[in-house]
Amino acid sequence: MAMSAPHSLLVRHLGPDDARDYRDIRLAALKNAPDAFGSTYEEEHTLSVEAFAKQVEATTVFGAFLDKQIRGMAGFARQQGRKSTHKGLIWAMFVAPTVRGQGVGLALVEAALKHAATIVEQVTLKVVTDNVAAIALYEAMGFKTYGIEPKALKVGNGYADELLMVRFLDDL
Ligand SMILES: CC(C)(COP(=O)(O)OP(=O)(O)OC[C@H]1O[C@@H](n2cnc3c(N)ncnc32)[C@H](O)[C@@H]1OP(=O)(O)O)[C@@H](O)C(=O)NCCC(=O)NCCS
Repeated sequence: MAMSAPHSLLVRHLGPDDARDYRDIRLAALKNAPDAFGSTYEEEHTLSVEAFAKQVEATTVFGAFLDKQIRGMAGFARQQGRKSTHKGLIWAMFVAPTVRGQGVGLALVEAALKHAATIVEQVTLKVVTDNVAAIALYEAMGFKTYGIEPKALKVGNGYADELLMVRFLDDL
């Protein structure tokens, strides 16, 4: 289980200059954890570095670097609409398989929550109900389940239910 995070771990907000690293980690995520994402490797692997630069500029993405190599990512977005801007969501959470269990995931969620606390009051996320590792990570970071979306994802002829989780930020 998670030891204290490695000394060389750095989590930071990615910008357009990080487009190559963002592309690498995003494609690794789509390849290694296809069930955890709405998009697919097939849809994105032909996109140029410039397309990833635009994507990373238009969204808020945190990258986790170990010895300066990108090894994880987490996205954050504030909801749109006058009555919803007090809410944000975490999306596309991923840590490379070789560095799991060392606290990298915790550090990514912590960075996203710290940023979120400056602009929203609560953060929601969705996670497939059999994703034990991610659910345990989110619970460790104070997320609580408030519902289940049945058949939230359709893959081929099969479906996956998703847990709906929320973290209120009043203590951050
Ligand atoms: C979920 C994921 C991001 C966790 O990243 P990680 O860096 O290994 O997580 P951490 O080392 O920070 O672990 C933090 C906590 O999460 C829980 N956890 C992590 N991996 C776990 C596992 N395999 N089984 C049970 N609990 C686990 C533990 O509570 C752990 O803390 P502890 O060890 O002190 O108890 C990673 O497994 C991953 O990228 N999975 C594939 C993509 C994915 O599922 N993304 C989420 C989509 S919603």
